[in-house]
Amino acid sequence: MPELSNKTCPEEELDGQALVWNQILSITDSLVLKCAIRLQIFDAIHRHGSAISLPSLAASLPTPCLRPTILLRLLRYLSHIRLINITNDEHPSFSLTPSSSAFLVTTSKQSLASFITIFLDEDFLAAFHALDVCVSGGEGEGSAFEMVTGETVFGQAARDPVLSHKFNEGMAESARITAAAMVEGAEKVFEGLRTMVDVGGGMGTVARVIRRRFPGIRILVLDLAHVVDGLVGSDGVEFVAGDMFVEVPQGDAVLLVRILHDWSDEKSLDILQKCKEAINPESGKLIIVDIIIDDDKDHELHHARVASDIMMMAYGGKERTEKEWRSLLLRAGFTRCNITRIKALQHVIEAWI
Ligand SMILES: C[S@@+](CC[C@H](N)C(=O)[O-])C[C@H]1O[C@@H](n2cnc3c(N)ncnc32)[C@H](O)[C@@H]1O
Repeated sequence: MPELSNKTCPEEELDGQALVWNQILSITDSLVLKCAIRLQIFDAIHRHGSAISLPSLAASLPTPCLRPTILLRLLRYLSHIRLINITNDEHPSFSLTPSSSAFLVTTSKQSLASFITIFLDEDFLAAFHALDVCVSGGEGEGSAFEMVTGETVFGQAARDPVLSHKFNEGMAESARITAAAMVEGAEKVFEGLRTMVDVGGGMGTVARVIRRRFPGIRILVLDLAHVVDGLVGSDGVEFVAGDMFVEVPQGDAVLLVRILHDWSDEKSLDILQKCKEAINPESGKLIIVDIIIDDDKDHELHHARVASDIMMMAYGGKERTEKEWRSLLLRAGFTRCNITRIKALQHVIEAWI
């Protein structure tokens, strides 16, 4: 019988092993996060107002926890991924970290809880299980979501009011973070504008933040009828139901926040054509707010930007490199562009005809 070798694992082999184990188990991060949001752990700790003991936390969850030892394991993992602080004593207590306090408590202005609820939903995650089918191809250029469900996310939202509401809430929530970064880091982009059309502007979250900072701009939010019907305009923000593939209303500028990343290059060119028709060729401009995947590989958000491209592969659309953005804009007939970096996943790209 061969003897078992006692040889130690070379350093690079251990690194390789760690890399693969970490990737296999990295799904844990997203799903533990979703679990904690569902159990409302961050909200319960926030409501308590100070570090909370395990029995108090277990009792204060909306669905009281009957298995505190399992809750403790979950909290230990949340601490490992730096979303919870745990005191290191015999009877530990738990508190929020700056990240969970800002982004995971539902009442926080920057909360991403609804975004997590919709995009880590079982039906959405099913698309991730079909990435291989999506890569192999087949009919058309559909997303994995389309291959699994037979329709696009927007198509499904149009006929399912519950999904539509959840989707729009998730979008509005994450839009608050983007919009705040836009008016803080790219204010020059909006200076001097009198009218702007926010194409695919959803429930008007971005429009309202811009309007508050620039009260001189009148903003028209264009979105599909099922999104804007019933929304009431006020304070210089108006809603119009329409289809950006058919017509975009006129304005000094056309704003596209997280729109082109939902579409293939060919569809994006159709949208850009309608945007071009809506602005003055001499003085008008296009303002795109979307991810540039390859900008600053050392940036804190670089991994999230690259991973977003895979999320778009699953749910529909694509993120683009700077070269791809420049080429798309040139093909659409925009001859000049300027990129402004803001403190968000997305960048602000201005383009002129
Ligand atoms: C990813 S969301 C972005 C929403 C918003 N701009 C934001 O950043 O929060 C895409 C938006 O495009 C809208 N949309 C999809 N197809 C559209 C169409 N054909 N015409 C107008 N809006 C459309 C959707 O309803 C949705 O509100």
